[in-house]
Amino acid sequence: MANIDKRFPSIPHMKATARRRMPGFAWEYMTGGIGLEENVRRNTGDLQKILFMPRYLSDAQDPDISTTVFGQRLAAPFGVAPVGLGGLQWPGCEPPIGRAARRHDVLHILSTHATQSLEAMKAHTGPSGWFQLYPPKDPAMETDMIERAKRAGYDVLVVTVDIPAVTRRDRDIRNGLSVPPQFDLRTVCHAAMRPHWLLRLARHGIPHFENLEPYAPKGLSIREFGEFLGTILSNHITADRFRQIRDRWPGKVVVKGVLDPEEAAAYMTLGADGIIVSNHGGRQLDAAPSSVSMLPHVRRRLGPDALVMVDGGVRSGLDIARMVALGADYVFMGRPFIFSAAAIGDDGPAHLIDVLKQELRGTMWQLGCPRLADLHTFLHKPE
Ligand SMILES: Cc1cc2nc3c(=O)[nH]c(=O)nc-3n(C[C@H](O)[C@H](O)[C@H](O)COP(=O)(O)O)c2cc1C
Repeated sequence: MANIDKRFPSIPHMKATARRRMPGFAWEYMTGGIGLEENVRRNTGDLQKILFMPRYLSDAQDPDISTTVFGQRLAAPFGVAPVGLGGLQWPGCEPPIGRAARRHDVLHILSTHATQSLEAMKAHTGPSGWFQLYPPKDPAMETDMIERAKRAGYDVLVVTVDIPAVTRRDRDIRNGLSVPPQFDLRTVCHAAMRPHWLLRLARHGIPHFENLEPYAPKGLSIREFGEFLGTILSNHITADRFRQIRDRWPGKVVVKGVLDPEEAAAYMTLGADGIIVSNHGGRQLDAAPSSVSMLPHVRRRLGPDALVMVDGGVRSGLDIARMVALGADYVFMGRPFIFSAAAIGDDGPAHLIDVLKQELRGTMWQLGCPRLADLHTFLHKPE
């Protein structure tokens, strides 16, 4: 592990190596956003503007970064956001990410669009695992997915609401991205230059949408399966749609993808147990505000007791501290977990969590902040 730490002391180092090891189409699918990708940059850029004032007279040795969500004690206030097509980005990356979350006692949200089934992944994530649902249009399919998630032992359902429309992402269109991957000349050229990725693909097999395949008509061609996917997504998750899902799920329901404080309040009134402030990593609307800029407003609107979580642009323990200071109870990351797996391999996700824990603790120690709840008192607002 000491050697891994030396080579990959922080996320930018993992990202740089991941870029060299992933085929272009997979790299662009992961890192890309929509439009001019201003929203991707805004997420990271706005976070860097948040400053802290350290206080050296206070005594804050060995700060406590543990937290509690829905009564579950967790080792740190950060975890894994749902990311679709993990097996396309870095073949076989999903189980080690899930196991690392469990081993380190942090949360893991499995995507509807994962390339491992929700049943198989629960065995890896255990009590750390939540399931993310893209509510499908077909009520029978929705019922079945919810029943499967219950049977598999998930307690928390994360309903993602910020994909009402199929959006055009230029880079994916240019790369002809499809799942399972379509190996045209361009894709083959990308893949041929990335032997680590190809070897992993040979070992783990061609990725599929494991959670959705049971509902697709049998014998579809690759193109037809793509069209099928386009037809099953719900439109807007209106109040009625949300209520139906809420009524069917016996456990906790978290809404992911909200930016507007009033809408966050509306979902809570409709029975949500928590909110993830998110703009989907800048992949849906280039003119959307950054998650970090909306977080304090959502916190203020929902009050101190609501469960408010966030994702978008978090790339260090310092960024996690910034989000917590601005009102987040919990902070998720998407792309960094893929960076870690692609750069380091199966030990990458656990290393990443370890680095983030150390960075967060180090930040709090430096500030003189003993507890997560005190971080907001260290925010620095220049005149
Ligand atoms: C490649 C990729 C796939 C994603 N797939 C999903 C998904 O299936 N479901 C979902 O709710 N969010 C999905 N997201 C959004 C993430 O959950 C999260 O909101 C976002 O990645 C946070 O930004 P970050 O990557 O800067 O940490 C995806 C994001 C990426 C980058």
